Amino acid sequence: MASALFSVPKICFGPQAISALQRLNHKKVGIVTDAFMVQSGKTRDLINEMPQATVSIFSDVKPDPNVDVLCAGAAHFLAFRPEVIIALGGGSALDAAKGIKVTLTESLPDHAIELIAIPTTSGSGSEVTAYAIISDPQNGRKYPLIADALVPDYAILDPNLVLSVPRQVTVDTGMDVLTHAIEALVSINANDFSDALAEKAIALVGQYLPVVFQDERHIQARSHLHNASCMAGMAFNAAGLGLVHGMAHAIGGMLHIPHGKINAMLLPLVIAFNAQRAPHALAGYQRCAAIMGINAATAEQALGALINHIHAMNRRFGIPATLQALGTDLTDFAALRQPLIAATLADGCTASNPCQPTAAEVDRLLTLIVGQAQRHR
Ligand SMILES: NC(=O)c1ccc[n+]([C@@H]2O[C@H](COP(=O)([O-])OP(=O)(O)OC[C@H]3O[C@@H](n4cnc5c(N)ncnc54)[C@H](O)[C@@H]3O)[C@@H](O)[C@H]2O)c1
Ligand SMILES: [Fe+2]
Repeated sequence: MASALFSVPKICFGPQAISALQRLNHKKVGIVTDAFMVQSGKTRDLINEMPQATVSIFSDVKPDPNVDVLCAGAAHFLAFRPEVIIALGGGSALDAAKGIKVTLTESLPDHAIELIAIPTTSGSGSEVTAYAIISDPQNGRKYPLIADALVPDYAILDPNLVLSVPRQVTVDTGMDVLTHAIEALVSINANDFSDALAEKAIALVGQYLPVVFQDERHIQARSHLHNASCMAGMAFNAAGLGLVHGMAHAIGGMLHIPHGKINAMLLPLVIAFNAQRAPHALAGYQRCAAIMGINAATAEQALGALINHIHAMNRRFGIPATLQALGTDLTDFAALRQPLIAATLADGCTASNPCQPTAAEVDRLLTLIVGQAQRHR
């Protein structure tokens, strides 16, 4: 096996971690974020840590950023020439900031820009990954861009910033973390480093997501979940993801469903599929079940119990099992089937799934995720 390199940005974590921004006083700082972060005062909180800094804010990020946002953000900062870009927000703002930094660097090739990522959801792990998920709304596609230049230099994990995340976004993004960790654990590129991080992330999500669901302002539980999100990001950055994400990018791009929610819905279906088609993945799922406190005598029992456990988590969190139950408009679904299959098979995340699905297998999984009434269309 060829040697591999495992590296991560500097990570500052814990309550008041944003005080790490004090070293930016006197610098030229660009902030990439969304309108909510400005209205809710979170950008003000950052600026208060560096009162002497010269700050310019680009707050036009919307969920699932597209190329237009990257160009608009780069144009916004061109004359300002920031020394630092701070990405503040959920995965959408973080991915937009990564793309804006790279686009800006193309116009300013001799100008170094430091990238600091401050997540405000516990979900994407984008603060430590080489991934940026960029949408192409015209073609209904979401593309995972993967490049070393997209890895932030610094990640700041401050749990105070996630206290305001609404309950449904909390559980959707929390299930995204669980999906990252499980897909990394069974990926064809899993290794000792990614396994260690994935296993810890699974344990933390299993323990603390239900606590946060009960009490959204539980700061210790929020802290653990925020750290888990980052660990799962490190795990999949090293190991890759799988078919859940391949399908989620395709379905999310065409039907506009929140990323974490569609992952949560697909996760039990893909686990069942992988375990049947790639029996070597069974050991990973068995380990996952054990970490989540599931007692089972055999690998097969552990698999069944893990799938039931994820279904039960989804039910408890108000995440339905099918697109039909979610109330998605499926009028034109028949026309979308082939493009969805093609997008899933072409997605970079599908490539590290424990087995490579055929078009017919993806088609069957689509039928399952759509739900009963659509099966025979
Ligand atoms: N780059 C990666 O490695 C990676 C990995 C997984 C997902 N993603 C991408 O990230 C995006 C999803 O990110 P997300 O799930 O974090 O959602 P998001 O960034 O789209 O945010 C969802 C909503 O939550 C709001 N929000 C964010 N933080 C908040 C807070 N603290 N308080 C109140 N509201 C808040 C946002 O304003 C937005 O309306 C998708 O585009 C997905 O494809 C990227
Ligand atoms: Fe994800």
